[in-house]
Amino acid sequence: MKRIVILISGRGSNMEAVVRACDAQGWPAQVVAVISNRPQASGLDFARSVGLQAEVVDHRAFADRAAFDEALASTVGRYQPDLVVLAGFMRILGEGFVQHYAGRLLNIHPSLLPAFPGLNTHQRALQAGCKIAGATVHFVTAELDHGPVVVQAAVPVLTGDDEASLAARVLQAEHQIYPKAVGWFVQGQLEVRQGVVRHTAGEPQHLWFG
Ligand code: GRF
Repeated sequence: MKRIVILISGRGSNMEAVVRACDAQGWPAQVVAVISNRPQASGLDFARSVGLQAEVVDHRAFADRAAFDEALASTVGRYQPDLVVLAGFMRILGEGFVQHYAGRLLNIHPSLLPAFPGLNTHQRALQAGCKIAGATVHFVTAELDHGPVVVQAAVPVLTGDDEASLAARVLQAEHQIYPKAVGWFVQGQLEVRQGVVRHTAGEPQHLWFG
């Protein structure tokens, strides 16, 4: 059984999608904890409602980034995860944490990386006049929103879209690709060579929601 820890900061809809898929699809895996850096994260309610271990490591309780990182690492470490899933986790992780979990740390980002790393991705995609937007699941490396791409989903940008409508369309795609990527990982179906991720049985690593 692979042990999964999910880190959230808010709503946790991607966490919920992963938890539900893990139950429904009978992966050889178990979500052993959901950890939030924000006590008010509503995703914690869902986690608790389905009987998951839910914890808070409040970043505001620590003097600096290093102290928070240490506390987070020790809380995550107690669960001995095989995989750490960042699902709308809005803190930049320290290099030590990233290195410790290298190759078993996934993130989802609401753009077609390497386009638009960082914040306000939908607004920036709209301002740039993009006709296609999307989301990316990738292994986390020290550089923010970089790292080997596991799967990407593309959606159209429609006339009249605003940030909210585009974000909602992308979020639906996120809920498809994140469980897919986590399922592949826990079933040992991913191979990373020279920064390129390949599904060992050749599953398509792209989705189009046109
Ligand atoms: C998602 O769009 C995710 O890609 C981004 O933050 C949002 C989190 O949503 N990093 P949720 O908390 O999973 O509902």
